[in-house]
Amino acid sequence: MLSEFAMLKKFERYPLTFGPTPIEKLKSLTDHLGGDVEIYAKREDCNSGLAFGGNKLRKLEYIVPDAIASGADTLVSIGGVQSNHTRLVAATAAKIGMKCRLVQESWVPHEDAVYDRVGNILLSRIMGADVQMVDEGFDIGIRQSWEDALADVKAKGGKPYAIPAGASVHKFGGLGYVGFAEEVRMQEEDLGFKFDYIVVCAVTGSTQAGMVVGFAKDGRQKNVIGIDASFTPTQTKAQILDIAQKTAKLIELGQDINEEDIILNEDYAYPYYGVPSEETKDAIRLCARLEGMITDPVYEGKSMQGMIDLIKKGYFAKGSKILYAHLGGVPAINGYGYTFRNG
Ligand SMILES: Cc1ncc(COP(=O)(O)O)c(C=O)c1O
Repeated sequence: MLSEFAMLKKFERYPLTFGPTPIEKLKSLTDHLGGDVEIYAKREDCNSGLAFGGNKLRKLEYIVPDAIASGADTLVSIGGVQSNHTRLVAATAAKIGMKCRLVQESWVPHEDAVYDRVGNILLSRIMGADVQMVDEGFDIGIRQSWEDALADVKAKGGKPYAIPAGASVHKFGGLGYVGFAEEVRMQEEDLGFKFDYIVVCAVTGSTQAGMVVGFAKDGRQKNVIGIDASFTPTQTKAQILDIAQKTAKLIELGQDINEEDIILNEDYAYPYYGVPSEETKDAIRLCARLEGMITDPVYEGKSMQGMIDLIKKGYFAKGSKILYAHLGGVPAINGYGYTFRNG
């Protein structure tokens, strides 16, 4: 079917999600932080019945039609051991009747004994993906191990379809989150107000890139506040800009996206990708204890920490309405049992 969103109407969308995701007010967190700004969450973590859902499904909805049209029989993707993305590629492959080959690199210096047995990778294995462990460190770029997996599927007589890390550096990778902006605009009509800021976690870049393009339609691209969780922010920012520019051209946005349009805060990714700081852990606990909303130590915990800290520092004007994009990722928390052994 063609996309229901005006900005995306020439693109095919294969539904993998339930529909518009709910927006809820985080009242206790708002009150706890003094009430000068109002905090809302858009629950992308509750977007689908496929393997706990998350942001990757919005992107994959625009990639799957191309994968099917290519005649492929195997989706091939890559991520860290606890990648949410590879879990959702495995779920998508199962749903559309394809095989799945996953490269899981050692992106995180992990401490839990069961890190490679629980959470995302456990789910991918249950869903039948062919999971290959590779001892390479963190890098959001195109990886040799992934190219080798594609060649291996071919050599064995399969027809691979290539999905890069985070479904980001793919010609259609930015479209899903253009749709997110369109959906928010529709929801704002019902709510009777507009959000002043959107806070989003960024690593491989296409989530923020899509939002920047989608919100550029009504001049709000600089209100998308990215919080880096990669700890390689120069590369992440360049990738966001590149994807945003290519996506803007692809959808014929009619305006340029420039470097100044990409706001990426670099202050909360420390000490390393996938390793939570004490402050990140505190933010995860605070949000869980006030709202019952779970965020993970790799991504959303860092953007939650960033949003809370920026509110405390007065970054957002008094009276602002902030939309926190909860992009999913909770299954990875099972790999952090030791970190949270005392709560
Ligand atoms: C839960 C979660 N949040 C945020 C992100 C960051 O999104 P992106 O890679 O599109 O920048 C990801 C994936 O990398 C993720 O799985």
